[in-house]
Amino acid sequence: MPVSPTLVEADPLRRQDPELAEILLGELARQSTSLQLIAAENFSSRAVLAALGSPLANKYAEGYPGARHHGGCEIVDVAERLAVDRAKALFGAAHANVQSHSGSSAVLAAYAALLRPGDTVLALGLPHGGHLTHGSPANFSGRWFDFVGYGVDPESGLVDHDQVRALARGRRPKAIVCGSIAYPRHIDYAFFREVADEVGAYLIADAAHPIGLVAGGAAPNPVPYADVVCATTHKVLRGPRGGMLLCGSPELAERLDRAVFPFTQGGAQMNTIAAKAVAFGEAATPAFAVYAHQVVANARVLAAALAEQGLAVTTGGTDTHLITADPAPLGVDGRTARGRLAAAGLVLDSCALPHGDARGLRLGTAAVTTQGMGAAEMERIAVLLAEVLRGAQDRGRVREEVRELTGGFPPYPGGDGVGAAS
Ligand SMILES: Cc1ncc(COP(=O)(O)O)c(C=O)c1O
Repeated sequence: MPVSPTLVEADPLRRQDPELAEILLGELARQSTSLQLIAAENFSSRAVLAALGSPLANKYAEGYPGARHHGGCEIVDVAERLAVDRAKALFGAAHANVQSHSGSSAVLAAYAALLRPGDTVLALGLPHGGHLTHGSPANFSGRWFDFVGYGVDPESGLVDHDQVRALARGRRPKAIVCGSIAYPRHIDYAFFREVADEVGAYLIADAAHPIGLVAGGAAPNPVPYADVVCATTHKVLRGPRGGMLLCGSPELAERLDRAVFPFTQGGAQMNTIAAKAVAFGEAATPAFAVYAHQVVANARVLAAALAEQGLAVTTGGTDTHLITADPAPLGVDGRTARGRLAAAGLVLDSCALPHGDARGLRLGTAAVTTQGMGAAEMERIAVLLAEVLRGAQDRGRVREEVRELTGGFPPYPGGDGVGAAS
């Protein structure tokens, strides 16, 4: 992206450390000139980025507002209280903890609050779309707990409710986790609550992906059903990278807070917490509700257009921002497809598929919708994507078309300096 000399001059980072500034500008250019279709990514507002880059980053604040282990916390306490109050209001929660450094840290804290090492936990298996924190042997979850995986139906791609119930009855887990990195449909939280109650298990909803849609009224809210909701504040919610915990009743509040600090984390990142407060403020506006619904509308158009192009769209479509699809009908597997698409400027992930071992593609519409793209652009993206996979058009030409398309939808209109984003 062209960098205006005035902004560059005015930028202290550019003056002090041009080498690093160049890297930041290069990344801004990459994000602005290619299509960000990674389902977990978005463009935070200039206000969120301003809070992230603020002097609150300097402050140590172990503990919670009014009960810190450091002096001088009177201002950051106000920021954290604001973030907590906004999160509670946004999601109808009795309690919110906004200190988790990431989605994974939030899940770790939920387990720490509710479980003991060795406890049995039922969660969506990793080959079916479970997250690393849902029992991967490479993750603390798989090492410290006895995870049992449920799956999705290989034909429909939908969560196999009969299997969930049978496994819960047979294994009597201490907790059931519902949530996924790649499930395109709404999760039936009432069903999971019923099964958890039947076997006396805690219900943990890992709503990292849909929580932004929940904020905008475009997806069901897990808070009334789950004992604990874990979430990220980036993704569709469009805030800073980070995590949070929510609960519908105040009963577990103290245990959860202690599980975050001091059990699994140290000092809170007050700049990030302030940025979370900004994002919650944005998410409470009517404009964000329009955005969240547009994210889903775009995903539905994109899913239908990909199917039209011959990709096998899992579950036949989507209820959310997220689509998974098998590119095999176009003669290419998910991993190869991801590489080819990245070279053409379409950035997305590969993912597991409900049937067999082949990898598929995972796409999301949160970022392109923030840029202002709509149905016409989704159809164009599907055509470009299929052309690349079929090898029908030379990739250089598609790369140029992607540049032209993104050029009409700058993520930070009018701003091209590091940290000057909209
Ligand atoms: C369902 C789910 N849980 C947890 C996480 C972890 O979030 P983070 O990458 O912030 O640790 C993710 C991230 O994609 C996720 O999709």
